[in-house]
Amino acid sequence: MYFFVSLTQGNLPSKSLKKGESLQKTPKTSFIFMNSDQFVPLNHDIRNKEELLKSSEHFRKLMESRRSVRTYSDEDVPKEVIENIIMTASSAPSGAHKQPWTFCVVSDPDIKKKIRDAAEKEEYENYHGRMTDEWLKDLEKFDTNWHKEFLTTAPYIIVMFKKAYNLDELGAKHKNYYVSESVGIAAGFLIAAIHMAGLVTLTHTPSPMNFLQEILCRPENERPFLLLPVGYPAKKTVVPYLIRKTQDEVSLWY
Ligand SMILES: Cc1cc2nc3c(=O)[nH]c(=O)nc-3n(C[C@H](O)[C@H](O)[C@H](O)COP(=O)(O)O)c2cc1C
Repeated sequence: MYFFVSLTQGNLPSKSLKKGESLQKTPKTSFIFMNSDQFVPLNHDIRNKEELLKSSEHFRKLMESRRSVRTYSDEDVPKEVIENIIMTASSAPSGAHKQPWTFCVVSDPDIKKKIRDAAEKEEYENYHGRMTDEWLKDLEKFDTNWHKEFLTTAPYIIVMFKKAYNLDELGAKHKNYYVSESVGIAAGFLIAAIHMAGLVTLTHTPSPMNFLQEILCRPENERPFLLLPVGYPAKKTVVPYLIRKTQDEVSLWY
């Protein structure tokens, strides 16, 4: 089965035609016929300038209200919500569409306890000698320490693993591309999805995180990337007062 996509003349990529595809031109528009096994029409709403402004402002406000939370309620969250959050994250772009990630979802209290114990052991070392004075000073405003109660209180912990490479059934290695960039973008999608669902999270990095690979029995090609508790905030949760950088501080326009 074939369909055609119209392209404004001049936008036609010179290398887009493949063997077996044909091209017809009219004065204003180019039509490219494609094998539907390879391409599908883009599903995209075109908005006018007013709508663009409104939707971008709306999303900006929603995202600016996100905060990292370190105190959680133990109230349960429907599993389907977590599934939706993960599939949102997994829709992120990735190098050559390899989707080089695994999301381990932990709700089992014994596993959460194991993770907390191991994380606290590492964090104890971090706060008692491994972190530099400058680092400790930078953390002062967050009033954090090696205790990580949220790892057993939050109903879910999501541990993101990055796949340094793929392993097939025969144990052969296959390349992934731009793995850290891809997984970082997916983590952003994940955090945004948690926020938009109405829940809270914390980007937690109890470095080194190798213990997660062991506790969650992940194969050698998977490396722990981030650990995120997910749930409702505890009653009377407070967050550090922070000022975010201004437009001028974060962007240059050419
Ligand atoms: C890569 C990364 C690692 C982080 N690791 C930790 C962590 O281990 N513990 C923690 O309490 N917060 C951690 N944070 C949270 C930051 O402190 C927080 O995002 C920052 O202070 C801004 O606050 P906000 O998220 O509320 O805007 C981390 C954030 C990022 C992006």
